[in-house]
Amino acid sequence: MSFLSKIRCAFTLGQGLLIENRALQATDDPIAFFKAWLKEAEKSGIILPESMSVSSSTTAGRPSSRMVLLKEVDEKGFVFFTNYNSRKAEELEANPFAALLFHWNMLQRQVRIEGRIERISEQESADYFHSRGRGSQIGAWASHQSELLEDRNILVERVKMFEDKFKGKEIPLPEFWGGYRVIPERIEFWQGKADRLHDRFIYQPKDGNWDITRLNP
Ligand SMILES: Cc1cc2nc3c(=O)[nH]c(=O)nc-3n(C[C@H](O)[C@H](O)[C@H](O)COP(=O)(O)O)c2cc1C
Repeated sequence: MSFLSKIRCAFTLGQGLLIENRALQATDDPIAFFKAWLKEAEKSGIILPESMSVSSSTTAGRPSSRMVLLKEVDEKGFVFFTNYNSRKAEELEANPFAALLFHWNMLQRQVRIEGRIERISEQESADYFHSRGRGSQIGAWASHQSELLEDRNILVERVKMFEDKFKGKEIPLPEFWGGYRVIPERIEFWQGKADRLHDRFIYQPKDGNWDITRLNP
C-alpha cells in the first residue's frame, strides 16, 4: 500500500470515500483468504495485526470480550494461548463456543469468526510455550490470571520465586496454560466501501466445502 493510499485511508476511516474501489474477491478457501488479508494488514504497517477480540459467554448467556494474539491459523482453525484457569477459560470450558473479531482499520476490513472451541494438544502447547522468551514463560507461571491480586509486589515475588526455581533448567509447561482452537462454523469478511455500501461475504462449512453467501451491508 502506498504512502498516499495510507493517508487517504486514515482520512476516510469508516467511510471508504476516497480509497480505491477494491472489490472483495470471494474465493473458495476462507483460510487462504484470511491469511492473505492478514499478510496485507502486516504489510500496511498495522501494529499487531494478529491481535483479535475473543468473546466467550457464561452458560447464563452473559458475554465478555478481551484481546488476545492469534498464533496459528490453518484448515483446523484459529489458535490462541492463555491461562486455563482464567475467566475466559472458565467460560469457554463451560460453554465451548467463541467469537473472534479482527479489525484492520487502515484497510477498512473486519473479519468475524464464530465456532466451537477446543483445547489444542499438550504437545502443541509445550512446543509453543518453549518457543517463547524465558521472561514470558516465567510470567505464565507467576500470573494467576483473572484472580484478585492484592498487591503487585505479590506478583513480583512470585516471578522471583519461579526464576530461582527454574534457574539453569528448562521451564516446564504449566499444566494450567495452553492453547485453544476455534473451529470456524462461520467466517465473515467485511470490506468497507464508499457510501456505506460495504461488501460482506459469509463462509459456512457445508458437505466438506464452504458455502459462500453475500449479505447486505
Ligand atoms: C493486544 C493484546 C494482546 C493480548 N494477548 C493475549 C494473549 O494472547 N493471551 C492472553 O491470555 N491474554 C492476552 N491479552 C490480555 C487479555 O486481553 C486479558 O486481559 C487476559 O487474557 C485476561 O482475560 P480474562 O480475565 O477475561 O480471562 C492481550 C491483551 C492485549 C491488549
